[in-house]
Amino acid sequence: MRPFMDSVPPARAAIVAAALIAAAPSARGAEPSVPYVPTPQDVVERMLKIARVGPQDYLIDLGSGDGRIVVTAAKQFGARGFGVDLNPERIREGNENARRQGVTDRVAFYQRNLFETDLSEATVITMYLLPRVNMELRPKLLALKPGTRIVSHDFSMEDWKPDTHVTVDTPGKWGGTGGKSDIYFWVVPARVAGTWRWELTIAGKPVSYQATLEQRFQVVTGQGQAGGRAVKLQNIRLAGGELRFAFAAEVNGHDLRHEFTGRVDGERIAGTVSVSGPRVQGEQEWSAQRGGKGAARAAPGVAG
Ligand SMILES: C[S@@+](CC[C@H](N)C(=O)[O-])C[C@H]1O[C@@H](n2cnc3c(N)ncnc32)[C@H](O)[C@@H]1O
Repeated sequence: MRPFMDSVPPARAAIVAAALIAAAPSARGAEPSVPYVPTPQDVVERMLKIARVGPQDYLIDLGSGDGRIVVTAAKQFGARGFGVDLNPERIREGNENARRQGVTDRVAFYQRNLFETDLSEATVITMYLLPRVNMELRPKLLALKPGTRIVSHDFSMEDWKPDTHVTVDTPGKWGGTGGKSDIYFWVVPARVAGTWRWELTIAGKPVSYQATLEQRFQVVTGQGQAGGRAVKLQNIRLAGGELRFAFAAEVNGHDLRHEFTGRVDGERIAGTVSVSGPRVQGEQEWSAQRGGKGAARAAPGVAG
């Protein structure tokens, strides 16, 4: 992550620094915790493309400035949503922008503290804030519905590594003097840490399985058992609520490759498994339950 001021021309940096110093000491205070610096329009569009925003989305911009992100999401990508900002002048600009672009039926702007905003309706969150504000928000973002997409202009969330990070040249930055913008993108991961158990029928006989998963945000590691024997889990991928993993195991005398995909829903994962070997081939429904005897304790990582 590049520090906020690195690509700022000196005169403008002084103005931004003054605004930052004037900001309230706590990001949760009634004063804006972040100065107003608009995201250049080309970066707005790139952010929305990276987040794959579409007509099915509900987008919330935290600290919405003149409303350009929410208005562009509605006008060019067909989304609905709202923006919040502490500054009433910004809210007026946002409403005016929506009116000019003909999207008042799909967007709204509220004068509200972003820390006191209900985010539960969002499928996409956008933000151009500051590193410490992102970190203060992080636990609330991680608690959103798995699969919620988050895109941040210029600032990361430290050890919650982004799923995508791009740096773009931005001629429109700093009022047209030009610079670079970082775009960070995350998908809120489901909580999968713990021991999951399930049963499959292989060559007509039931076989017990288990997988014990550890989790650091979207990065999952773990070990498994098939018919009481240890197996090495491979290709574990967690994308929002979608979990995939695979292993090879000998069960009921057959050497079998197992490939699982499932959707995590609280204490249950449900999906399909493909089982293949020289004399056994097939796909079947699969569901696993978390917990029970010998269950691993949930790793703290995902809470951030
Ligand atoms: C860097 S600007 C980004 C504006 C817009 N999202 C964009 O990218 O063009 C940050 C905005 O956040 C607003 N802001 C700062 N602290 C806030 C808070 N605690 N609650 C709501 N808005 C806040 C500021 O007034 C400012 O308009």
